[in-house]
Amino acid sequence: MSEGNLLYAQSGGVTAVINTTAAAVIETARKQKKIGKVLAARNGILGVLREELIDTSLESAEDIHALRHTPGGAFGSCRFKLKSLDEHRAQYERLIEVFKAHDIRWFLYNGGNDSADTSNKLSQIAEAMGYPIHCIGVPKTVDNDLVITDCCPGFGSVAKYTAVSVKEASLDVASMHESSTKVFIMEVMGRHAGWIAAAAGLAGTKASEAPHIILFPEVVFDEAKFLAKVKETVESVGWCTVVVSEGVKNADGKFLSEAGTRDAFGHAQLGGVAPMLADLVKRTLGHKYHWAVPDYLQRSARHLASRTDFEQAYAVGKAAVEFAVKGLNAVMPVIKRKSQNPYTYTIEAANLSDIANHEKKMPANFIRADGFGITAAARKYLQPLIEGEAPLPYRPDGLPDYVQLKNKLLKQKLPKYSISDK
Ligand code: F6P
Repeated sequence: MSEGNLLYAQSGGVTAVINTTAAAVIETARKQKKIGKVLAARNGILGVLREELIDTSLESAEDIHALRHTPGGAFGSCRFKLKSLDEHRAQYERLIEVFKAHDIRWFLYNGGNDSADTSNKLSQIAEAMGYPIHCIGVPKTVDNDLVITDCCPGFGSVAKYTAVSVKEASLDVASMHESSTKVFIMEVMGRHAGWIAAAAGLAGTKASEAPHIILFPEVVFDEAKFLAKVKETVESVGWCTVVVSEGVKNADGKFLSEAGTRDAFGHAQLGGVAPMLADLVKRTLGHKYHWAVPDYLQRSARHLASRTDFEQAYAVGKAAVEFAVKGLNAVMPVIKRKSQNPYTYTIEAANLSDIANHEKKMPANFIRADGFGITAAARKYLQPLIEGEAPLPYRPDGLPDYVQLKNKLLKQKLPKYSISDK
């Protein structure tokens, strides 16, 4: 006999494997007698507020299984910050009303540290209002900046994409350098944390191998030192590959690449530091350059996903449902590294209150003394996360066989709700 329904929602920037977690949640929940239907919110918490709930029981087992290899967020995601309980009590109350109307007893929120905060606050207000719900945060972020967990699902795949792309593009530059391009600059995501930039370092092991320069958000940008290093590399190697994090800041603490726009969380929109540095190199050193900003390509590149990442994305989704039916509340399944070689890990429960609003940056011992590369300790940490492939099926027309769900909404039971008024 079922005890109620489970609601799953995706939040924040999506990843190449967030749908792998969604598949794990739905497949695991379908086997649990306690759970009636698995519902999914359309566009994250916005869909819960608007009572736009997708009935995943209408999707076939094959289509849910195919989510495992389909990038993007199958139900839609959002950037929407629920403020404090005092400021936005009405919104929290609306969420509880929606939970009640659809007999939702378990809420699984798949996101980063802002989403952990939302799930945590929701569990508090539900308790205060006497509504029995179990809120579980499910980890995800390409930025790899959640504390406690060894790594974040989504990161291993963006790390692999970055390392592989830097290696491939550098073979190109090496071929062209005598009479054409001398400098290649690739910009990667990661906001305030340099984990993705660091992963580029896996592309080479010797000083002469690319990337020759990595610019981390954790290291203040020094223009003169940077230009001297580019000059020295072009002189000794013949060409130079630079990887720059979108979050690199100058001595005044300003992002080099701030576009001037902000999202609902107040995060600055970043992007464009690679062309800026390329122009600087051309003006001062006169070298011909190419630059790349893979932007969404890097976090959606399911064709180059890491096996480790794929398996971990599935494992946290499965564990989230198991924790939920066991009665755990306000926790997140996190990855604990047990051994290095072979890389093994367990999934454990950590309190959302210890994760919410914290940001894990690259530790100092992961950044080389000159500030332009990674150390052996960083390499040891990163290496297993990009290992293995997670192949996907291709159609006869040569494109990947990604799934498109029906995403049929449940009939609404409550009065319409306009988010902007509240
Ligand atoms: O979710 C993390 C992230 O991929 C960041 O690295 C990047 O700066 C940001 O999302 C981009 O967010 P959006 O897709 O909302 O512009």
